[in-house]
Amino acid sequence: MPDLSLKDKVAIVTGGSGDIGGAITRKLAEQGATTIATYVGNEKAAIELVQSIQDKGGDARAVQMDQRSPESINLLIETVHKTEGSLDILINNAAWNIGIPFPQLDALTPEIWDRVLETNVRGPFLLARAGEEMLKAGRGGHIVNISSAGGISPGSSSIAYSSSKAALNHLTRCLAVAMAPKVSVNCIAPGLVENTRMAQRLPEKVAEGARRQAVLGLVGQPEDIAEQAFSFITSRSVTGQTIVIDGGMPGAMR
Ligand SMILES: NC(=O)c1ccc[n+]([C@@H]2O[C@H](COP(=O)([O-])OP(=O)(O)OC[C@H]3O[C@@H](n4cnc5c(N)ncnc54)[C@H](OP(=O)(O)O)[C@@H]3O)[C@@H](O)[C@H]2O)c1
Repeated sequence: MPDLSLKDKVAIVTGGSGDIGGAITRKLAEQGATTIATYVGNEKAAIELVQSIQDKGGDARAVQMDQRSPESINLLIETVHKTEGSLDILINNAAWNIGIPFPQLDALTPEIWDRVLETNVRGPFLLARAGEEMLKAGRGGHIVNISSAGGISPGSSSIAYSSSKAALNHLTRCLAVAMAPKVSVNCIAPGLVENTRMAQRLPEKVAEGARRQAVLGLVGQPEDIAEQAFSFITSRSVTGQTIVIDGGMPGAMR
């Protein structure tokens, strides 16, 4: 039987200050985990999240981390090692994007390309690398990467974002092999997630179109992503998988 309790487990949720990261942090804290929610610039959102969890009796703290910086990643892991002594769960949720329509190749400069790939692919790899020793210790650990349906079908905020998420899907499989048998590595690829700032920046007709195309007639909510993350980290026998959460877009069904 899988162990469903997260009591005594330590979890890092990168981008906990964001909408989906916040929902995942709340879910893991509700289940008893000590949660470390990272932010890069939005300290206020991270502090508010942590406060709301603590108010309900949960265990959470906020730590600043820029995943473009290997030093910052190492500092986060050293801090967790010093303060908690262990790490069981790494949720690689943080990402960066900018809207550049696919046909505008000239607008996608080398600098933007590098920033997107550095944040969305190299960051999750360096976090797994830095956390490896603690994740492999004890009963073993779990990594969940948050990718995007844009990493499966060619469509999203930019070619760089779509490519970065496709790379993250494959990094999931590579790390599942590399970190077995002590660590499971899985991935969630959301389509449009409602009630997020990222989704709210899109014109309403895009959200409407997404709901129309989805065979279930709805798209995901942040809590749906959190439930799936919880399912992955309480599973004993699933690794190397990417699951799409988008209400069922025929184009992303594989
Ligand atoms: N929302 C959607 O519709 C949707 C759809 C598909 C996939 N996703 C994926 O779901 C994940 C979360 O998305 P979201 O909607 O919750 O986004 P969000 O609200 O914009 O949050 C992004 C998070 O990433 C952090 N971040 C950005 N750059 C960083 C860096 N260099 N180092 C460390 N952290 C950094 C941000 O920190 P600060 O708050 O401090 O800036 C924030 O916590 C992302 O991986 C995204 O690609 C979202």
